[in-house]
Amino acid sequence: MTDPPLARSARSARSARSARSERPLDRGIIRRLAGYTRRYARLRNGLLGLVVLRAIQLPFVAWAMARVLSGPIARRDAPGTVAGVAGFLALAGFTELCFVFRYRFALRLGEAVVHDLRDDVYAHLLRMPMSFFSRAAVGGLVARVTSDMEVIRIGVQDVAFVSIVTLGSALISAGLMIYYDWRLFLVVSIMVPGVWMLVRRLRGRLGQAHRDQQESFARVTATLAESVAGIREIQSFARQGASAGRFAALVRDHARYNMAAARHGAIIQPFLEWNGQLFLCLVLVIGGYQALVGGVPLAALIQFVFLSNGLFAAIPNLGTQYNQALAAMAGAERVFALLDTRPDWEDAPGATALDRVEGDVRLDDVGFAYEADRRVLADVGLGVAPGRTVALVGATGSGKSTLASLVAKLYLPTAGRIAVDGRDLAGVSGPSLRRHIACVTQDNFLYAGTVADNIRVGRPDATDAEVRAAARALDVEQLIDALPDGFATDVGEGGARLSLGQRQVVCFARAMLADPRILILDEATSSVDVVTETRMQAALARLRTGRTSFVIAHRLATVRHADEIVVLDHGRIVERGTHAALLAANGAYARTFRRAAGIGA
Ligand SMILES: Nc1ncnc2c1ncn2[C@@H]1O[C@H](COP(=O)(O)OP(=O)(O)O)[C@@H](O)[C@H]1O
Ligand SMILES: [Mg+2]
Repeated sequence: MTDPPLARSARSARSARSARSERPLDRGIIRRLAGYTRRYARLRNGLLGLVVLRAIQLPFVAWAMARVLSGPIARRDAPGTVAGVAGFLALAGFTELCFVFRYRFALRLGEAVVHDLRDDVYAHLLRMPMSFFSRAAVGGLVARVTSDMEVIRIGVQDVAFVSIVTLGSALISAGLMIYYDWRLFLVVSIMVPGVWMLVRRLRGRLGQAHRDQQESFARVTATLAESVAGIREIQSFARQGASAGRFAALVRDHARYNMAAARHGAIIQPFLEWNGQLFLCLVLVIGGYQALVGGVPLAALIQFVFLSNGLFAAIPNLGTQYNQALAAMAGAERVFALLDTRPDWEDAPGATALDRVEGDVRLDDVGFAYEADRRVLADVGLGVAPGRTVALVGATGSGKSTLASLVAKLYLPTAGRIAVDGRDLAGVSGPSLRRHIACVTQDNFLYAGTVADNIRVGRPDATDAEVRAAARALDVEQLIDALPDGFATDVGEGGARLSLGQRQVVCFARAMLADPRILILDEATSSVDVVTETRMQAALARLRTGRTSFVIAHRLATVRHADEIVVLDHGRIVERGTHAALLAANGAYARTFRRAAGIGA
């Protein structure tokens, strides 16, 4: 089974990019990761101290054992042996005590770094404009803060420090071996460059395997996230089979990448261990021969056997660390790439905050396109005085929601200008503008929590009484009290435990409590039943009172009382006026209205 073509082309583009920047251990990435330890400099430095200490201790533990063997034991010196063993025990005990703290500090450092990185990623995502999220795959983003973070954690917590211990103790072991018999050391160390070269060849392939592995995992999580979000559609269109098939293919694919990575690892590891054993054999053959003919003292040979463990065990160990470093690099590369994604647009550097808003909204010759060559709005001119209501009507896809998003500065117009109270939105900070705007749409989002929590979203400090008052002002207090736990009802994740209509009621109350100057109702009542809607018309009229309102609705009963009705067609305004004037003009609006009236809506 292969990927769908889209996924495959995305992957080949990515691997082309990673092949170009094929530097398995990227200094820039390491430096940037190390930068995250700066805030924990004391912890990190303490850890480095312990690591250096252990790098010295480990070869000396081996050395001490060899000393006891070749010294007092070889001499059959009982008191000397007891003293030697006691000394060995003390050294070993101290070494392991250092290990306890080395381990604990490393865990703490890894946790701290990952915590800060996650914070950064989350903050970054929250700053990205809407256009970013319509392109980004949710699962890919989830992978950035889950699996990628885990490999980074291992990288921070293990790789650097274990490598220093291993490398340091290997060097000291080598030093001691040279001290005992430099010729024997030279003979056996001719193997090292050969081993190193082979490892270098193998590890390039391993790096790619790790990247593939993590990318395919991101595809798996993306598909899972998408399926869970769209489970209603999947089940209602009986698409379970197709979805399961697609998912199974991705999982199979992922398993293949896992296997490929494991296969590379499974070649490198045994190969390195085999080299260690080969080395020991060399020591025994050459050293043993020399000891037999008297060229090398037995004590030196014993030291060699013990110290060689520190030297040659280091190579497979460094290999393992190297694997983990590659995985961490791949993870960090992707996390940093996300952090480096610049938004398509940001508030201008000199953007000022809107402190007070009257609610005068003006659009001059506004044009907009989501994608460069497909215009969605053109030459839209519109003025709404404070407190007035404008209704936007038109066929699906005519650009009504887009226009509303532009007013909230969720996107920037590609032509013309939009001004609130005469201030061009280009020079206004988006968040400050949106404090004065509330938006209720057809598919409103509820956060996990209670109904009251969700009403409070726009004003987190509101009291219970204020929350209730907002619901009462909308005449939906009884509706909410009728829920299983009233205002304390748990809405479930994404509001899944409320009906669409109930969710909408919560969102109206949310807008009411936020008390904005500008209100956007985008097909806000399309999911409530007709009885509720009729009842809510009065409530919505109350919500609109004194606020500049943009009302988008299919049901003409909702729009007929607007101060101005604007008819959009393919992104252009084709008619405008009051309900009566538009009926008299007998154009598109009048036709639609009569048709709707004819079928009794
Ligand atoms: N995020 C988006 N990316 C690309 N195109 C979009 C996006 N949102 C809407 N569009 C396109 O813009 C046009 C207008 O959409 P919209 O404003 O939602 O229409 P309406 O609300 O009137 O139904 C449609 O052709 C739609 O396909
Ligand atoms: Mg719409």
